[in-house]
Amino acid sequence: MFSRDYIFKNETVSTSSDLKETVRSAKKSVYAVICAEEQSGGRGRTGKSFFSPKGGLYFSASFPLGENPKNAPFITLLAGLCVCRALQKLTPEKLYIKWPNDIYLNGKKLCGILTENVNGTAVVGIGINCDMRDEDIPDELKNIVTSLAQNAIAPPDKKVLMYEIVDSLDEELYEKNALSGETQEYVREINSRFYLRDKPVKIVSGETVISGKALCVSESGALILLTENGTKEIISGEVNLAV
Ligand code: BTN
Repeated sequence: MFSRDYIFKNETVSTSSDLKETVRSAKKSVYAVICAEEQSGGRGRTGKSFFSPKGGLYFSASFPLGENPKNAPFITLLAGLCVCRALQKLTPEKLYIKWPNDIYLNGKKLCGILTENVNGTAVVGIGINCDMRDEDIPDELKNIVTSLAQNAIAPPDKKVLMYEIVDSLDEELYEKNALSGETQEYVREINSRFYLRDKPVKIVSGETVISGKALCVSESGALILLTENGTKEIISGEVNLAV
């Protein structure tokens, strides 16, 4: 087994950028977590920024994946499951995974996950909106994002929440070998939390836009879409609700 190094910062630009730099410059495998109270340049997928004021939980963890794991991209969905399992202990309201990397609560985004690869090590960055109240959220995000506090979920000890999520992802990856073995059980759980089910969506990938109805997640973690030309398997892309 390995032990993890935890680094805590009051403020940084991006915990994921910091950890990627650490992994890049290390001579051996890095199992570390960098956590910050706030980020001045939090990053999301497709170059978007991630609103990261004080009051959230922002951390990035590195997971060396060894030689060619069968299904490396599946790690983002697994991380989403670990986040849902930890948060579900705090609320009876169901937590949903908006394929592939957002966690939704009551129709709004509560958490974003960004996975990046540095020389075979996955750097998984997780941002959870914890203590923000209405007035802390800019107008343009009010209809889009939510926080634990806004859902009357007693903000937990954020560090404990983080340890729980990292420990459970470590267990799935290194004890249960989730990226090399069968995915059926995970996919069943992911589909039970599938936010996009039966919703009309537009998938944008570079210049390409595909429209259809989201059906489910496949065993490899792809999005199955019903289009005018039949079902299509979407491996990556930005999902926009088409309503
Ligand atoms: C997204 O919404 O597209 C993903 C957002 C991921 C945000 C987390 S917060 C911790 C880590 N540091 C970053 O800059 N991004 C991730």
